[in-house]
Amino acid sequence: MKRIYVINGPNLNRLGLREPDVYGHKTLADLEEFIEMKGKQHSCEVHCFQSNSEGQIIDWIHEAGDKNISMIINPGAYTHYSYAIRDAIASVSVPVMEVHISNVHARESFRQHSVTAAVAKGQIVGLGFKGYELALLALLEGEVE
Ligand code: DQA
Repeated sequence: MKRIYVINGPNLNRLGLREPDVYGHKTLADLEEFIEMKGKQHSCEVHCFQSNSEGQIIDWIHEAGDKNISMIINPGAYTHYSYAIRDAIASVSVPVMEVHISNVHARESFRQHSVTAAVAKGQIVGLGFKGYELALLALLEGEVE
């Protein structure tokens, strides 16, 4: 069975509580349930992870790469400045899709640049949880491999 890692970065454990006008009222548990269900519909085992720590996120990226598992990643604010996460993505040969719940391009200028997007296969922003589903489909259909 195909496996995919879904890695959410810092502050995404605060979904539902955090700036609901930007991120909505649904929680991280709701997001994980949603994407696991979408995975099942496509005979794919989705493994969800969340951490507020850069090193832990890097370790999961390496692990997925070593196990030949494609990834969906929302690096949160690390997107905008973590060269370490960028290098971790560049260090693996599996496809990585970057997702952002909000439309980062319509927000503060510091959010409009991603240091990780250039090493991802693609980026989906502003579509809420749907972005994770579309990233999953893209990975499963191999459109970005
Ligand atoms: C985010 C956008 C980032 O700018 C922000 O720091 C987040 C969430 C998003 O999903 O819209 O934590 O990645």
